[in-house]
Amino acid sequence: MNQSGDGGRNQRGCTMVKTKGGFDRFRVMGDVGGAWQASADNLAHAAAVLSATAASGTLYREGLGMIASENIVSPKVQEVITSDLHGRYAEGLPGKRYYQGCGDFDDIESLGLSLAQKVFNCNFANIQSTSGTVSNIGALKALAKPGDKITAVSTADGGHISHARMGAVGLRGLDLTTYPWDEDRMEPDVDAACAMIREVEPTLALVGQSVFLFPTPLREMADAAHEVGAHMMYDGAHVLGLIAGGQFQDPLREGADIVTGSSHKTFPGPQGGFLLSNSDDEKFHRKLNSAIFPGVCSSYHLHHVAGKVIALAEFAEYGEAYAADIVTNAKAFGAAMATEGFDVLAEGRGYTASHQILTRHGETDSGAGAKAAQLLEDAGIITNMNMLPGDTKAMTPSGLRLGVQELTRVGMGTTQMEEVAKLYARVLLKGEDTASVKADVTALKGEFQTIRYCFNEDSVSGYPL
Ligand SMILES: Cc1ncc(COP(=O)(O)O)c(C=O)c1O
Repeated sequence: MNQSGDGGRNQRGCTMVKTKGGFDRFRVMGDVGGAWQASADNLAHAAAVLSATAASGTLYREGLGMIASENIVSPKVQEVITSDLHGRYAEGLPGKRYYQGCGDFDDIESLGLSLAQKVFNCNFANIQSTSGTVSNIGALKALAKPGDKITAVSTADGGHISHARMGAVGLRGLDLTTYPWDEDRMEPDVDAACAMIREVEPTLALVGQSVFLFPTPLREMADAAHEVGAHMMYDGAHVLGLIAGGQFQDPLREGADIVTGSSHKTFPGPQGGFLLSNSDDEKFHRKLNSAIFPGVCSSYHLHHVAGKVIALAEFAEYGEAYAADIVTNAKAFGAAMATEGFDVLAEGRGYTASHQILTRHGETDSGAGAKAAQLLEDAGIITNMNMLPGDTKAMTPSGLRLGVQELTRVGMGTTQMEEVAKLYARVLLKGEDTASVKADVTALKGEFQTIRYCFNEDSVSGYPL
């Protein structure tokens, strides 16, 4: 141990450090790199995070996760997202990097590009984007410039915040007009929306929602957009797995020039995004790639890219069955909720054609959705409040948006959808004590812990400790 003359080092070979917060800490100078003796306060902070993380894991392991934008990842995906790739950089594209050390990752990303083209049936894929929102920001950067006009679904009708002035559309300085909405069909009013596109003449027509019960009438809207020289962009964040599994609509063959989406909702990968197109124009491909890097990402989270590639391989194997089971379960859940006495929207269309259903729990703007969501959480059922047609305030809406993609992934089927609807009725219609319902929720979920539609499905927990 070298103890010669270093300022602040005590006689045991430790260096005292005064931190900003005033805590003393000691670095023991034994070996190169040393060992740290941390302050009790900072250790307690780390312990608090670990403990809250474990509690959140328990909530979902024992409870019913029904937030429509969430999912769980397979063991092989988990393995790579906690790997050394987490700390690495690979700016550029496979084979064209700014840093050394990317050879192995080049193999991963190249494989991912070809799998994405196969799974999403497209000529072009970018798998670098770190979220659905980042994909949208990149697409808006590539396809429009500040001051251009854009048309989209309003957030009140289920459009995403990134389609709004408060989000990416505003960030790009675009001039937004929202489509007329058909509340019975829960989709853009196709004739009025096409007329609006023809009148506004946007640079970009954007469709797709966060509340996404039914396929968009895309062909008609894409025709109108192309007639006025606009690009048609389809945000498939929620329904990407259903699309790839052939169970929703096929936007790239119905007129969309570009599809964006998240990699972690009905597509069951790690958090991240995709950008897809069927164009064979290489200049367009370059524009889309450079909108992501260097446009909106530097590091693009290599561990998550590797996770997406494994999820793509698993989806190629099991995705069609998974997507079909999700839609079957959602329809069954909608019907079961109506049978229990809930007001389920879009009854006339069979409640849903996706992974979501919407339920109304009180008067417009009454906050009844917020109250219902809290009672359900008390009973171990995790959902989110949602604005319904007529609601004007996001924090006091009348409804809930419910998704069945996670329950499907752990093997629940239509019988369980009926059981789950009964649990909702006990909490929200019969006013039963939430603690007693929670015990039954935990018992039901205890039978569905094994993750399905992925490699090694027989042996692995969807909720590892
Ligand atoms: C339609 C839509 N687009 C984009 C996003 C953003 O996705 P992410 O959370 O991956 O950024 C969402 C999120 O739920 C969404 O619903």
